[in-house]
Amino acid sequence: MLHKAQIRAAGRPITFLEADMRTFDTHKPVDAVTCLYASLNHLLDPDDLTRTFTRVAAHLRPGGVFVFDLNSDHAFKALWRSPVTERGPGFTLQRRFQSNGAQTTMRLQIERPNHPPVRDTLTARSFRESTVRTSLVDAGLTFRDLAHFNPFPSVPGTKLKQLWTATYR
Ligand SMILES: C[S@@+](CC[C@H](N)C(=O)[O-])C[C@H]1O[C@@H](n2cnc3c(N)ncnc32)[C@H](O)[C@@H]1O
Repeated sequence: MLHKAQIRAAGRPITFLEADMRTFDTHKPVDAVTCLYASLNHLLDPDDLTRTFTRVAAHLRPGGVFVFDLNSDHAFKALWRSPVTERGPGFTLQRRFQSNGAQTTMRLQIERPNHPPVRDTLTARSFRESTVRTSLVDAGLTFRDLAHFNPFPSVPGTKLKQLWTATYR
């Protein structure tokens, strides 16, 4: 993905870095940090949320903004339970889910004609709003806003995803 991003950057002065969000260090202060598309839901230990937020705070200049999204518990119940099969031009994607209550594991398989199937497994979880707020404070960040939204018109409910905004000082 980084290689594809580099190609799309077409020579613009962008630094690409592969790192674990819980320990990353770009050695460069920034005005804003984003962490989107439910990436934080992949942190399975709540302490990892605080670790990640601490790294964000360490990079933000005073007044800097941190924007991130999270899938809610409702999103996991609505979207990460029933098996899904999607057919597109030249591919079939199957997703199967297994939940132990706190965490949900997705097993996915992509089939394309004349290609071996691609299989992957990933596990994600939701966080209580109070846990997120406490992690922000523990990391030295200031909560600013929480907005709920639902980008999936076919799924009922208004609180599938959360968009959080915090600042450093
Ligand atoms: C749903 S994808 C979102 C990808 C990307 N942010 C986007 O918007 O397309 C979640 C991503 O989080 C990454 N991820 C999971 N745990 C991570 C960690 N500890 N540190 C860094 N990335 C992680 C996964 O590798 C995956 O690429």
